[in-house]
Amino acid sequence: MRKISAIITGSMLLSSTALAQNALVHAGHVLDPNSGTYAQNQFIHIEDGVIKDRGNWNSRPDLDLVTIDLSDKYVLPGLLDAHVHLTGDSKVHGYKRLTRSVPRQAITGVRNAKRTLDAGFTTVRNLGAAGYADIALRDAIDDGDVPGPRIIAAGPSLGITGGHCDNNLLPKEYGAKADGVADGPWALRAKVRENKKYGANVIKFCATGGVLSKGTDVGAQQFSLEEMKAIVDEAHLAGMKVAAHAHGAKGIETAIQAGVDSIEHSSFISDKGIKDAKREGVYLSMDVYNSDYILNEGEKAGMLKESLDKERRVGKIQRESFRRAVRAGAKMAFGSDAAVYPHGQNGHQFSYMVTWGMTPLQSIQAATINNADLFGMSDKVGTLDPGKFADLIALDEDPLNNIDIMQTVPFVMKGGVTYKK
Ligand code: ARG
Repeated sequence: MRKISAIITGSMLLSSTALAQNALVHAGHVLDPNSGTYAQNQFIHIEDGVIKDRGNWNSRPDLDLVTIDLSDKYVLPGLLDAHVHLTGDSKVHGYKRLTRSVPRQAITGVRNAKRTLDAGFTTVRNLGAAGYADIALRDAIDDGDVPGPRIIAAGPSLGITGGHCDNNLLPKEYGAKADGVADGPWALRAKVRENKKYGANVIKFCATGGVLSKGTDVGAQQFSLEEMKAIVDEAHLAGMKVAAHAHGAKGIETAIQAGVDSIEHSSFISDKGIKDAKREGVYLSMDVYNSDYILNEGEKAGMLKESLDKERRVGKIQRESFRRAVRAGAKMAFGSDAAVYPHGQNGHQFSYMVTWGMTPLQSIQAATINNADLFGMSDKVGTLDPGKFADLIALDEDPLNNIDIMQTVPFVMKGGVTYKK
């Protein structure tokens, strides 16, 4: 039976899954992402998928429990990715996407959910899926039918007619239109309500053009301030956070003015945009790993020539903007936009974040405590303190000394269940 908390969608209360277990973990070094220090030789007592207690191994509870030996490992909280598309496929871009039905995409999602979990990502925000396939995937995972991360699901992304979140690949007579397309404040409020009705936990909208859509300008704002405000107001009334896809400076500034909770991509963010984000407490989620995959593999995967041209303008500037935002002390999320690149390589982004200005600890904070805050789940995930889900990963080396080790996660537990060892 799925717990009632999993059924209350939009409340950010995800269940500890149907498979929740009891166990005792013997952990060599446990990272506190807040301070960047390790507690040595720890026990982690897990009851019903939740951390009941933690302390020195020598004062472990005397109980008859399954013991998991991670005594020579570096143990971190399960990782969080603020921007994935589990039902998307990195080999299927451009016109190839028209061959994929919604049920086919859902099955792709099952494969990618496992790859994502195996990479150490135990909670993700799925920022956009056709036909509510991400909601079905989330529920199947929570029911224990298939393995995968906890999913905060957006359902269809909202967008203007002909914008980045529409389907612009076919002439008018085909009537192709993405699920989340609407124009005007009231039509958008209705879309938010519809997404909520069918199970969304978060709202995603497109505030500028994008790289991988046909005929959109990455620099150009999409939606008026009035429309963005309507989306944000309606979503917040329903207890849902709002993520805005935005590359161009004006679209970023307008989305922040409208009250969004995170800016996705943030490529051409102005100094004003960074200042606004800091003042309003808006997270910047920047997919700085993506560019290499797009430029190296994109053509084979079917990406349009115009997309490759746009990427050549966006990639480098986005990384420089990332460096500026980190220097300025903006709140940084970890969002990778998996599906553009292959799911399961999420951990590769850590090294890029360090190359472009973060310390290893800052990059890990982005994927743990910062994302937990952005998801509204700081009481459930992001650290290994009592009361939180027993979501953890173990590494062979100290990632604070070698951030590349985040690409190789040999052990993954979610809700007290070991999924990879
Ligand atoms: N989904 C995004 C878009 O199409 C991907 C952008 C990837 N490029 C980058 N440099 N991060 O706009």
